[in-house]
Amino acid sequence: MASLILYLSATVLFAQSTIAFNCSRKPIYVDIHKRAVHDSPVFQYGSFIGLGTPAQNQSLWPSLAQNHTSFASHVYCKDNSTLKNCDRSTGGFFNQQESTTFTESKNFKSLDVAGTDFKGFYGQETLRLYTHFFETDGASQTLVENSTVEVAEQGSITPGRVGVGSSSTLLRDLSARDMIAGKTYSLYIGQGFARAGGSVNGSNVFGGYDSGRFTGVPHKYQMNIANSNPMSVRIKDIVITDSKGNANVSLFDNKVFTDMKSTPSDFEGQITTEQFPISLPYQITKNFISRLGAEKDNTWGDNSLRLKNAFNGTLSIVLEDGFTVTLPPEVLMNASNITPIQDRDEKSTAPFYLGSAFLGQVYLMADYESNNFFLAPAVQKNNMVMPQTFCPKTTPEAYVRPNQNQWQRQGLVGAVVGGVVGGMGAIAALYCLYITWMRKKDERKLKKELRKNRESKMEQMDVEEAPSFDPPPKNAAKAIFWRRNKM
Ligand SMILES: *[C@@H]1O[C@H](CO)[C@@H](O)[C@H](O)[C@H]1NC(C)=O
Ligand SMILES: *[C@@H]1O[C@H](CO)[C@@H](O)[C@H](O)[C@H]1NC(C)=O
Ligand SMILES: *[C@@H]1O[C@H](CO)[C@@H](O)[C@H](O)[C@H]1NC(C)=O
Ligand SMILES: *[C@@H]1O[C@H](CO)[C@@H](O)[C@H](O)[C@H]1NC(C)=O
Ligand SMILES: *[C@@H]1O[C@H](CO)[C@@H](O)[C@H](O)[C@H]1NC(C)=O
Ligand SMILES: *[C@@H]1O[C@H](CO)[C@@H](O)[C@H](O)[C@H]1NC(C)=O
Ligand SMILES: *[C@@H]1O[C@H](CO)[C@@H](O)[C@H](O)[C@H]1NC(C)=O
Ligand SMILES: *[C@@H]1O[C@H](CO)[C@@H](O)[C@H](O)[C@H]1NC(C)=O
Ligand SMILES: *[C@@H]1O[C@H](CO)[C@@H](O)[C@H](O)[C@H]1NC(C)=O
Repeated sequence: MASLILYLSATVLFAQSTIAFNCSRKPIYVDIHKRAVHDSPVFQYGSFIGLGTPAQNQSLWPSLAQNHTSFASHVYCKDNSTLKNCDRSTGGFFNQQESTTFTESKNFKSLDVAGTDFKGFYGQETLRLYTHFFETDGASQTLVENSTVEVAEQGSITPGRVGVGSSSTLLRDLSARDMIAGKTYSLYIGQGFARAGGSVNGSNVFGGYDSGRFTGVPHKYQMNIANSNPMSVRIKDIVITDSKGNANVSLFDNKVFTDMKSTPSDFEGQITTEQFPISLPYQITKNFISRLGAEKDNTWGDNSLRLKNAFNGTLSIVLEDGFTVTLPPEVLMNASNITPIQDRDEKSTAPFYLGSAFLGQVYLMADYESNNFFLAPAVQKNNMVMPQTFCPKTTPEAYVRPNQNQWQRQGLVGAVVGGVVGGMGAIAALYCLYITWMRKKDERKLKKELRKNRESKMEQMDVEEAPSFDPPPKNAAKAIFWRRNKM
């Protein structure tokens, strides 16, 4: 009885602490993949967001630091831009004169203090967050009217960012207008962009998380709001394992790396999407170089190290609480022997970063209402999109994949649609997915079982059921949708 009362009062407390948030609000899911963008000759990878009226569609790269959502003006690439391949790297272009809903905000004071080399203007504009689970379906859009946008005309900043920093104007607007439960946000960056060289696409969920995208109980960390990268973790060990898993070498081991007098202390790594590689303390980088025979390289303009000889193994990053993130062989070294580990100068005082290479392996869930964030192993080959509300101050829960018997017992839609984002389009999409999934499942099941034991790690970059898409159009000036061939 006492425990029941305890339970009830805990429930009441819990209910009270979340009372300010409407956790019945559905989240807004915005996928990340390659598509045609406004006035660019190539497909670009990013979050599917349009702006203006009529829509000028963009592919925006998520930034965990930037507070403003930024776009490139057409003049951005004209003079001396430092951005490489500028006309195909800004995620699209924006022309405010072609939009009927743009109003300039004169003398606007930027919320982005770090990285200030910016010339351009600010304004109020309609943002269009597109949700589409399936290429065969049309996208549905969530309008965010009169939202603050930053339009870059010149400078070293990279435009084409959806700003989800700690003072994100987009999250603020969505939350203040009661369109999502609160200022919560989740990200899987994916690997379908050139530097990562993979094919798995990513997603943003505003006010929610995709419960099909991660496994296990997520690990909780506190944000450091004083940093412009508020999400950082402490790293206590880094282990290199060969392909047979029987030779583990810690880069922190002073018995192996005898020029170290003692075991190095743990260090803080800031999670960022602003760079791909991982940057580590000088001594650890040195140990990596000597262990794997790495050398300087700058093929990607990010000083990632290259191995002289191929290495078919993994690198595991062990966080303070024991959570371990493993870079599989095809991420640790690509076909050209390029690693995602950045060279480091002995005298450098720059922070240590866990870049997009790290985020390609984890699902990140940020709660800016309580300044906590969560990390969990990402499910790369997910067949299901399961957006859930991320109620502030709660812990996201992974979707538990039912086995086939459970599917049958629970009947058709129940298991799929239960707790899934609403809207007829979504239900229809999920239903199609379910049918496809059931049909393919039996034939796949056996193959999967056979494969499973052999390769648990090597399968990260390929895709279970890669849908086939029409090839890119010759002339991509007009944005079109990728269409999936009917199965
Ligand atoms: C909470 O959100 C739900 C779903 O959007 C809505 O039906 C309900 O009216 C909202 N409640 C309040 C108090 O705003
Ligand atoms: C990701 O999206 C692209 C379209 O931009 C598509 O070609 C590719 O197959 C998708 N990858 C997966 C794993 O679905
Ligand atoms: C571009 O660079 C050239 C040479 O460095 C300089 O003369 C010119 O003023 C620059 N243009 C702009 C718009 O900054
Ligand atoms: C975003 O705002 C936060 C304050 O909430 C600030 O610490 C951070 O530096 C800002 N981001 C950038 C890129 O300036
Ligand atoms: C957006 O701003 C315009 C002009 O200030 C105003 O007329 C309109 O009502 C605003 N819309 C919303 C949804 O706030
Ligand atoms: C590896 O990186 C090089 C860099 O030039 C690139 O050309 C190549 O396509 C990459 N390979 C893979 C498999 O990603
Ligand atoms: C790497 O090692 C794994 C496991 O031993 C093996 O299956 C795979 O073929 C190897 N890959 C290469 C490129 O040697
Ligand atoms: C090496 O590390 C892996 C993963 O952490 C572990 O499974 C394996 O048992 C370790 N091997 C040895 C020899 O310690
Ligand atoms: C932008 O994307 C939306 C959603 O798919 C689409 O309806 C619209 O036609 C696109 N706009 C342009 C100019 O292609």
